[in-house]
Amino acid sequence: MKHNSQIAILSLLSAFLAIPAMAQQTGEATYKAKCAMCHGADGTGNTPIGKSMKLRSLKSPEDVKATDAELFKQTKDGVGKMQGYAGKLTDAQIQDVVTYIRTLQK
Ligand code: HEC
Repeated sequence: MKHNSQIAILSLLSAFLAIPAMAQQTGEATYKAKCAMCHGADGTGNTPIGKSMKLRSLKSPEDVKATDAELFKQTKDGVGKMQGYAGKLTDAQIQDVVTYIRTLQK
């Protein structure tokens, strides 16, 4: 019995530790599947669609300065010519993508 509960606590702990790493992975997968064709794999918008839409780089000072909440809202509700992803991505997926964009900005 005692042994079992130790295992339960350990697996609970490792589940918590795995969350940040998982978030980054799903954010990356979502970005590559849904965003990279316009914003580019590196976020600079250096793609045929990105150029024709005159995309600003996600690494621009404006986007680096923007809060997570602002990037979240722009992605969810849309901005300019970009349609929002409300209903297409869950809030958790959008949050994960924002987290991934932050890693591109470094
Ligand atoms: C069809 C091309 C396209 C796709 C796909 C796309 N975007 Fe955009 N995105 C745009 C355009 C165009 C703008 C700029 C809006 C404007 O100023 O007209 C933009 C703007 C943004 C902005 C506002 C900041 C900025 O640099 O202008 C964020 C944040 C953003 N996109 C995130 C995302 C995320 C996250 C995804 C994937 C879930 C995504 N976009 C998919 C075209 C796209």
